[in-house]
Parts: sequence; C-alpha cells; structure tokens
Amino acid sequence: MRIAAVIGWPISHSRSPLIHRYWLRRYGIEGDYQRRPIRPEDLPSFVQTIRSGELVGGNVTVPHKEAVLALVDDVDDVARAIGASNTLWRQGGRVFATNTDAHGFVANLEAAFPGWRNEPGVPFVVGAGGASRAVLHAFLSLGIERIRLCNRTQARALELAAHFGTGIEVVDWFDRVKRLSDVSLLVNTTTQGMASNPPLELSLDSLPVSSIVYDLIYAPLQTPLIAAARARGLRTLGGLGMLLHQAAPGFEQWFGQRPEITDELFRLVVADIEGR
Ligand code: ATR
Repeated sequence: MRIAAVIGWPISHSRSPLIHRYWLRRYGIEGDYQRRPIRPEDLPSFVQTIRSGELVGGNVTVPHKEAVLALVDDVDDVARAIGASNTLWRQGGRVFATNTDAHGFVANLEAAFPGWRNEPGVPFVVGAGGASRAVLHAFLSLGIERIRLCNRTQARALELAAHFGTGIEVVDWFDRVKRLSDVSLLVNTTTQGMASNPPLELSLDSLPVSSIVYDLIYAPLQTPLIAAARARGLRTLGGLGMLLHQAAPGFEQWFGQRPEITDELFRLVVADIEGR
C-alpha cells in the first residue's frame, strides 16, 4: 500500500489529509495519506523514510520548507528558484523535491478568471515571505516581468527583487495606496487577515474597478481584504482554490492519477474550515 504524509511542527491544522483522502476514496486507490508531526531535528530521519521506500513521498509545511532542500537528493528548478519545497517523492531510491505553490497560484487564477493575463495593468504583490517568492516565480515563469512588490520591511522586498530580476519594482510601504491606480491584480501574500491576525492595512479606493483582488489566505474564507474588495464591486479570489490546486501534482506523483478539483471537494474543505 502506498503511503504519503504531510509533515510540519505543529501539523494538527493541516487540511492536506482531508484533500488527499478524498481523492484516494474517489479513485478507489488503496493508499493512505497521514499527518506526521516532525520536529526540526527529526527532519533528516523523515527524509530517510521516503528514501527507504516506507513512504512514497509527502508534503512539507512550516517550519521545514527551506531546510528540507539540503536533505533531499534532487531539487528541481522550481523549488530552487523559490528557495523552498512543499512536495517530495521517491524515484529510483532517491528523494526529489519540488514546489507546487506557484502552480497552485496560477491554476486557481486561470480557473476563476481565464482571461486575466490579457488584461492591461501591473500586478502588485504585498509581502515578501515564502508565499511571495512562489507568486513572483509564477509571474516570471509566465513571462510577466513587470511586477510591483511592497513589504512592510522594505529590505526583504529589495532582496527578493535582487533575486528574481530587474522588472520588479519595490514600492515603499508608505506609498502603497498611491501606487494602486494602474494595478490589474493585487495579491496579498502576507499573514494579515488570517483568523488570528488583524486585517491588512490597505485602502483599495484607488484600485481600478476592473482589477482582481487575490488573497492567498483561505481561513477565514472571506478576509477583510476580500470583503472590502467585494464592497467596491471588484472581482475577488481567495486562497482555497490554490490550496487544492497545489495538492494535485503531489497526488499524481505518488498515486499515479491526476486528481480533479471537484465542487464536492471544495465544499468538503469549506465545511471543515467553517467547523461544520
Ligand atoms: P510566509 O512564508 O507564509 O509568506 P513569512 O515569511 O512569515 O510567511 O512572511 C510573512 C509576511 O507577512 C511578510 O511579508 C511580513 O512582512 P515583514 O517582512 O515586514 O515581517 C508580512 N507581515 C506580517 N505581519 C505584518 C503586518 N502587521 N503588517 C504588514 N505585513 C505584515
């Protein structure tokens, strides 16, 4: 029986088992997807459980996404560019690492707004952590090089701009509202707006009415930023679709079946987030 697992410390909040077990049931695959709490000092022995074949692979979350790169046998170009991995698998006795967050980010956007790439304007990314790196990589790999990037701590945004390329313009945190008037797509990659955090401080008044507001947060399903965008009549997208889309390539790699992101799966995860 093929077994995959999600690891993190802590890991109890992860919704990955719900998603992968839904797909295992749906496709009648005899396999399992487990949740494993792994302390940082136990990360090397976890990677070994994949190398030895005990597990077919797994997902990696906080705080292991960067550290795991040094422990696997092969890091693909995407994980290397982003500087973090969320998906591991075994092939020929070796452990491979990739990152499917950039794929999840774009697939969710394509599914919701298929014409988004042809719309005029500049994408504006708020935040400069791991999620921001995945989003910048996604834009650049689509050939979108002109991007505005803004972070409370500007030095982190400047580091990302230096790493990812010259088309990225770093905006001063205090100028962020002024620089929204020609923005096509506003992306929140910060942790502001999560259930336990205050809202992102950003007035949307100067965003064009044609723009899309994409918040990577999925709990709550409607963040204050999304609520403000809806109140202005803007198109909006939350992070739940990205969570589902980033899970699909791992499932296919481990269990040999490209899984579908069905409405039923969407509703299942929504019910879990809402505590129903
Ligand atoms: P992740 O890997 O999930 O992106 P992270 O690396 O901790 O998480 O990054 C969190 C992001 O949220 C950062 O861009 C952070 O800004 P700083 O670099 O200035 O810390 C942003 N963030 C956190 N708290 C914030 C706040 N109160 N206001 C604005 N941005 C905030």
